[in-house]
Amino acid sequence: MEDIRKIISEAKEKIKNANVSSLENIKTEYLGKNGALTQILKSLSSYSIEDKKRIGSQANNAKSAIETEIESKKEDLKKSFLDEKMRSERLDYSKSFYFPFSKGSFHPIIQTIQDISGVFKSLGFAVGEGSEIETEKYNFEALNIPESHPARDTHDTFYLEGLKTLLRTHTSPGQIHAMEKNKPPIKVIVPGKVYRNEASDATHFSTFHQVEGLAVDENITFVDLKTMLADFIHKFFGSDIDIRFRPSHFQFTEPSVEVDMRCIFCKGKGCRLCKSSGWIEILGCGMVHPNVLKAVNYDSEKYTGYAFGLGVERITMFKYGIDDIRLFYENDLRFLKQF
Ligand code: DAH
Repeated sequence: MEDIRKIISEAKEKIKNANVSSLENIKTEYLGKNGALTQILKSLSSYSIEDKKRIGSQANNAKSAIETEIESKKEDLKKSFLDEKMRSERLDYSKSFYFPFSKGSFHPIIQTIQDISGVFKSLGFAVGEGSEIETEKYNFEALNIPESHPARDTHDTFYLEGLKTLLRTHTSPGQIHAMEKNKPPIKVIVPGKVYRNEASDATHFSTFHQVEGLAVDENITFVDLKTMLADFIHKFFGSDIDIRFRPSHFQFTEPSVEVDMRCIFCKGKGCRLCKSSGWIEILGCGMVHPNVLKAVNYDSEKYTGYAFGLGVERITMFKYGIDDIRLFYENDLRFLKQF
């Protein structure tokens, strides 16, 4: 009896500290053919009937106690194995290398539009939206470009739906929408995509972007336009940039001017980008033509205004020294990833 008690406590201790493989050995050691308890059960024949019964039942109890102990240890081991497996296989979503795609970024043209808009916002302009599909009224007539006026030829228009609508050739229709929707004072920019039906080369593409600007109020003068544009250029390109205003012609402004800035690459000495002139043309502008104010039923005696339009691709090309506009639209990631 003493032996059986010892066997049980010894076996329990071993089972407690066992792992998956040693547990099998423990089972054989106690319950196998030559196991300790089996030996006791085999030796029962030499005892008296009384002892046989007593020792036999104790040995059988011990046998099932050890079996139960082994089974429950097996369950424990299985559970902790599964817990560990789950722990080690759990995905850590914070680790970036599990994500197979690289991070995207804004297209350089969109970035430039955002930068330009940021500067104009700081100068008190709201940011408006136009429509890429327009009618002749908004793209031309209201902008003082009547039918059969030669200025229409320079726009190389894409017409849609039996000549009734067109893809806007500039963002200037945004001026008309802004004036129709609001009353003066107005101070707004309208960035967006424009289309021209022309052959592409290093400086021309059928789709490009412009930012239109408009301010209308009482007593707006050409000085307001000049100082505001100088502020914009200095904030956008740097405070040491020289600029100049050249007389020009646009149907929707009178007087009209074009603004050049000293070439930022050669500092005016003359280079490939400024075509040896030392100057880079960056925008067109002027005082809003009275006919444009009349087209939206504004009192052209009471209100004056200025307007301007700049080409986003051109500005981006000068900013980063890019010499071919087509690079923006070829979707070559080696180019786009640099911005
Ligand atoms: N719409 C003109 C173009 O596409 C650019 C422009 C010039 C806009 C002068 C203006 C402006 O608002 O005043 O060539």
